[in-house]
Amino acid sequence: MPQKLSRRAFVHRSAAAAALAAMPFGRVAAQVRFSSYPFKLGVASGDPSPDGFVLWTRLAPEPLEPGELGRVTFEVDWEVADDPGFGRIAARGRAFAPAHLAHSVHVEVGGLQPGQEYFYRFRLGRYDSPIGRALTAPASTESLRFAFSSCAHYEHGFFSAYRYMADDRPDLMIALGDYIYEDGYGERRVRLFDTREARTLAEYRNRYAQYRTDPDLQAAHEACPWLLTWDDHEVDNDYAGFTSEHELCGGEAERIAFRKRRAAAYQAWFEHMPVRPSRLRAGGGIRLYDTLDWGKLARFCLLDTRQYRSPQACPREPTPTRCDTETGRKLLFIGAGGGRLIDPTDPSCKGEVEDRARTMLGEEQERWLDAALAESPARWNLLAQSVAVAAIREGAPERPLVHSDSWPAYPAARERLLQSLSRHRVSNPVVLTGDVHAFFLSEVRDADQRPVAVELVTSSIATNNKDWTKVLPLNPHIRFHDGTHSGYVRCTLDRDRLQADFVGIDDIRDPRTPRAVLASFEVAAGSSEPRRIG
Ligand SMILES: [Fe+2]
Repeated sequence: MPQKLSRRAFVHRSAAAAALAAMPFGRVAAQVRFSSYPFKLGVASGDPSPDGFVLWTRLAPEPLEPGELGRVTFEVDWEVADDPGFGRIAARGRAFAPAHLAHSVHVEVGGLQPGQEYFYRFRLGRYDSPIGRALTAPASTESLRFAFSSCAHYEHGFFSAYRYMADDRPDLMIALGDYIYEDGYGERRVRLFDTREARTLAEYRNRYAQYRTDPDLQAAHEACPWLLTWDDHEVDNDYAGFTSEHELCGGEAERIAFRKRRAAAYQAWFEHMPVRPSRLRAGGGIRLYDTLDWGKLARFCLLDTRQYRSPQACPREPTPTRCDTETGRKLLFIGAGGGRLIDPTDPSCKGEVEDRARTMLGEEQERWLDAALAESPARWNLLAQSVAVAAIREGAPERPLVHSDSWPAYPAARERLLQSLSRHRVSNPVVLTGDVHAFFLSEVRDADQRPVAVELVTSSIATNNKDWTKVLPLNPHIRFHDGTHSGYVRCTLDRDRLQADFVGIDDIRDPRTPRAVLASFEVAAGSSEPRRIG
């Protein structure tokens, strides 16, 4: 039966957005026949809570040519069981795969038991999806195993690191951004994107679909629920709020085009992620920041460092080359805006850098975070976010430079973050970070050089790496660095200690590359002094 979205649903911002996800426009298919298997993009779970989680799939018999399904909406059956053989069904239902959301399915399952392992699958006509494993958050627990990742460039390498993460079967995986890259860069590519630099909804959908055909990434999503935040490349290199790195080139026209582009990118992100439909906001925004409690053992504060941030200070000047957006491929990372190395003490830049109105999280998210930290009942408080909080100083010792895209180039915002941690005496704060394509373990120090938190930085899943060994003498707060491996960080947590294993893979260009633990550190509860144990 055709269904129409009620007018009233548009009145309330989030209600309208949630309705958009739940209700189909146009015709609902009565019959189901596809040219080939419709679950080629696999399944995923995410946003766990004590009584449920979100289940995701997307119908895509031809992932890179989605036109086949047209404007028809489908209904998909789903079931959740206690066992992988589906002998004991815990919940089941039917959900829409609406055409206007690329035939993606987002099911918010509730009514389950806390702290339990479940298995799920979808069914449509004679087709069964792959089986995924999900966990509900516990009401109370003594331990947690989680892993986190960032920066997966499909063209640069294979996703072996995701496969190894899946093999570990953690309770939770956390993606810290650059899940996709909107564009290619670099000389050595093991495989190619299907489209040019993604700018339209169709191109972002194509990019996610191509990623999700990767068997290692599918295995990682099937292994356990994910918690997801984003960084810049889900939209465009080094964007900030509504400002693109090409803003200085195009003025008003660029600004309008970028608003549309960002909304398209965010929609495609939602369509491909196991996240709650209530995160959608009318007008193209997504409420991403959130908390997840794992009993009273851990609180994750998931932060959004892109959507509301102020532009990077002291941007590159526009030049004809930097403003030639038509040949975007060559220009990635050299737009007339975005990030670059800056001297924050330089008189030409200092005033702008130190402007107290500049923000990384936006006022509302800052207030929310302050409250989430103040009220946290957790033994460990983990900030899951994209860009480095501890400084990574480069350049000469007498004139150290910082990257204008990272927290130290937003000193007032950084200070407010660290003051929140100190003021509320937040128990065992740990920052989880990605972005820099290298592993780090750092002490986060405040303006008076007091250690406030430990920061664990994961390398890329697959990108060309960056080695910072030369600048380590400028950064005595960095306790560990490896800039030659891709990989991920694997953590085990109990009341008394956090153990972090930095897991490296040898060669992103070899799909059968081995892995090795490059280093293991222990942080004892109550101490900000990490200790190397392996
Ligand atoms: Fe990245």
